Amino acid sequence: MRAAIYRRFGGPEVLQVVDDAPRPTPRAGCARVRVRAAALNPKDVLLRRGKLKLVSGRWFGERWPRIPGVDFAGELIEAAGGFDAGQRVYGMIQGWSEGACAAEAVVPLGELAAMPPSLSFTEAAAIPLAALTSLQALRDLLAVRRGMRVCINGASGGVGSYAVQLAAAMGAEVIAVCSGRNVQRMRDLGAHAVVDYTADDPLAPQSPYDAFYDVFGNRPWSEARRAIRPPERRRAAPGASQAVYVTTVPDGRALLGELRGRLPGPLAGPARLVIVRSNRDDLDDLTARVEAGMLRPVIDRVLPLADIAEAHRYLETKRARGKVVIEIG
Ligand SMILES: NC(=O)c1ccc[n+]([C@@H]2O[C@H](COP(=O)([O-])OP(=O)(O)OC[C@H]3O[C@@H](n4cnc5c(N)ncnc54)[C@H](OP(=O)(O)O)[C@@H]3O)[C@@H](O)[C@H]2O)c1
Repeated sequence: MRAAIYRRFGGPEVLQVVDDAPRPTPRAGCARVRVRAAALNPKDVLLRRGKLKLVSGRWFGERWPRIPGVDFAGELIEAAGGFDAGQRVYGMIQGWSEGACAAEAVVPLGELAAMPPSLSFTEAAAIPLAALTSLQALRDLLAVRRGMRVCINGASGGVGSYAVQLAAAMGAEVIAVCSGRNVQRMRDLGAHAVVDYTADDPLAPQSPYDAFYDVFGNRPWSEARRAIRPPERRRAAPGASQAVYVTTVPDGRALLGELRGRLPGPLAGPARLVIVRSNRDDLDDLTARVEAGMLRPVIDRVLPLADIAEAHRYLETKRARGKVVIEIG
């Protein structure tokens, strides 16, 4: 089958497109998907570079060549898990499995859902990993609710573009942090205020925040805490966890914060690390938001599979404005 593959870890140049990649083996509890579009994520870059080989269990180099990509939209090749053959589905392949940038993928049934009917394959593929991350960070960890003042750092990229929309839909006052060229785009997505980090310091706000979501991952809790309201003046949901800070980047500080954040009751620390989980319920939640007009895909550029290396190169600039999507054809 046609697929992007890589045979060794390295830069974007290790990616190639072939027409004779072996089809993935069907497995129990999985569906076969004819992939129509796949979106890129920084995780794809980390996996391709071999940065995750310790945790991905691929230190010893098994299973080459590898097919990149975890976000997909496509059609079921045959009926599975209550879905009909031909059903349009989308989702995120969990963990370290990859395989979305190919004509065909085998996906666990719990990691896909019916596609939002109003979206094209290209639009739907742009949603899963990035939007799931922000949904889980804002809803589950920060318990965002009406009236909270929420700062989103790195708001104009894949994850941030959904965070702005989701936090605004949850009723928060959203302060988006990005560079000057993206200010208007953030307002269009629902931000109430925008801080251009090249001109102003988002950690010196006129009024402190109730929660800080560090999507870009360069403002650790030790710095961000000074911009957050003291506990007695915080707006938070009754019974909500004490988390007021979430980062996406799992460095040593973030992992320590996450361990403290998981302590029970009043012992719980205020800083958490979001670790995105693919699941049907949350994909259905996103679908409902899309169909209600509360969430829309944010796409920077769309490239054909043949240009997968160029797409990875662009993502690595860390300047993408929303998602980079690959059309499989
Ligand atoms: N833990 C998890 O489960 C999880 C899940 C998803 C993603 N992540 C991580 O989250 C991070 C963001 O992912 P993404 O998909 O949003 O990446 P992305 O799309 O590549 O982010 C690009 C954005 O970063 C912004 N940016 C660049 N430098 C910045 C700075 N100094 N301050 C603030 N913003 C800056 C850029 O905005 P400007 O051009 O305006 O500067 C650009 O719009 C990545 O590190 C990714 O690995 C983790």
